[in-house]
Amino acid sequence: MRMYDLIEKKKHGHALTKEEISYMVTGFVNGEIPDYQMSAMLMAIYFRGMNDEETTELTLAMAHSGDMVDLSPIKGVKADKHSTGGVGDKTTLIIGPIVASLGVKVAKMSGRGLGHTGGTVDKMESIPGLQTSIERDEFFDIVNKYGIAVIGQSGNLVPADKKLYALRDVTATVDCIPLIASSIMSKKLAAGSDAIVLDVKTGSGAFMKTVEDSRKLAEKMVSIGTMAGRKCCAVITNMDIPLGHAIGNSLEVMEAIETLKGNGPADLTAVCLELAANMLYMAGKGSLEECRKLAEGAMADGSALDALANMVKGQHGDESYIYHPEKFPRSALSKEVKAEKDGYVCHMDTESIGIASVCLGAGRSKKDDVIDYKAGIILKKKYGEPVKAGETLAVLYADDEKLFAEAEKKLLAAYEIGDTKPAEEPLVYDRVTA
Ligand code: URA
Repeated sequence: MRMYDLIEKKKHGHALTKEEISYMVTGFVNGEIPDYQMSAMLMAIYFRGMNDEETTELTLAMAHSGDMVDLSPIKGVKADKHSTGGVGDKTTLIIGPIVASLGVKVAKMSGRGLGHTGGTVDKMESIPGLQTSIERDEFFDIVNKYGIAVIGQSGNLVPADKKLYALRDVTATVDCIPLIASSIMSKKLAAGSDAIVLDVKTGSGAFMKTVEDSRKLAEKMVSIGTMAGRKCCAVITNMDIPLGHAIGNSLEVMEAIETLKGNGPADLTAVCLELAANMLYMAGKGSLEECRKLAEGAMADGSALDALANMVKGQHGDESYIYHPEKFPRSALSKEVKAEKDGYVCHMDTESIGIASVCLGAGRSKKDDVIDYKAGIILKKKYGEPVKAGETLAVLYADDEKLFAEAEKKLLAAYEIGDTKPAEEPLVYDRVTA
C-alpha cells in the first residue's frame, strides 16, 4: 500500500477501506508517513468528506493508536461527558459532582484551553494544590472513594489525535465534521466510560457555527459511540452567547460553586440540569424527567457541592476554597467596559469575547504561555438585555494595566447594540439519540 495512492483515491472522492485507514493512521503515528502527505490527505478529507463507515474506522484506528483505558477496577456505571468547546463553559465542574453525588462514577479526562475556548484542566488547576496529573491507580482509587476525579489526558492516550490535531491546527483543517467527530470520539472511546453525553455547542463561540452543522456532527458522534458499544447521546446547546457571566479560570470555578449552591445564572443552571439529567438517564437512573428531579435535588440538599469538595480533596487540592470561594486570590486591577449608546444587546460575538479573555491572560496564545488563573471577564450585560450609554457591559480583570486596551477593544467590537429587543434564542436546540 502507498500513501500516495490513498491521497489520490480520496482526492477523487472515493471511500477508503478499513485496511487503508488503519495503514494511514499506524504509518502516521510511527513516523513512516510524513506530515506533508498527511496534510494533503487532511485537505482531501476536508473537501471530499468521509462516509459513516470511514469516520467510524478512522475513530477506531485513532482510539487504538495508544492505551485503551480499562475502567473495570472502578465499581459501578461510569459516565462521561464531552463539550465540543465554548466560552464560559464550566459545566463539567457542575455536572460531574451532581452525577457523582447520585452514585454514578465519573472518571474523566479533560483538556486544556484551545484557541478562544477554555479547558476544564486549566480551571481546576486554579484551585490551590489541586493536581490533574495523576497516575492511573491513584485515579481509580479517588473515583472509588469519592465517586469522581477529573484529570488531564495521560501520556499515551490517542497519540494519533495529538499528532493529527497539531497538523490540522496549522493546515486549516480543524473545522471538518469527520475530523472533529473522530478526534473527539477516539478520546472518549479510549477513556473507557460506559455512557457518554456529548454537549455539541453551536453558534458564534463554537467550532460549529450553525445548528445544521452541529446536528450533523452530533449524529456522527452518537452513531460512532453506539457502534462501538457505548450508550451515547448528544445535546445541542447554545454557544452564540457565553454561558453564565464568568470567563476565566478561578472566576469560572467561583461561578460553578454558586451554581451548585442554587445561586447560579439561569442559562448555566438550565444547561447543566439538562446535561446532568441526560448523563443520569444514560447511566440508567430513571426517565429523563426523574433524572432531572434527582439532579435538582442534589443541588438543593448540598450533596453536589460536597462531591465537588471531595473531588478537590481527592486530587490534593484545598477543599476549603469550595466552601469559602472568597479565599480565591483576585486580580490587582479591574476595568469597566462601558456601552457607547442606548439600546439592546442584539448580538455577542462569543469567539471574540473568548479571545478578549485570552488577551487578559486567562488563556494561552502560544503553547507554553503561562496562564493567570485570576484573570478574565465578568459580563454584566448579555444578549437581549437593555443597556444605557455609559452603563457597564463587562468588567475586565488582570494584573497588568497594559493588557486592558486590546481586550477592551475586542469586547466592545463583540457587543452589537441595536434599537429593538432581539428574539430570544433557545438554550437547548435538540437532543440526538441512537
Ligand atoms: N475538540 C477536539 O477534541 N477535537 C476537535 O477536533 C475539535 C474540538
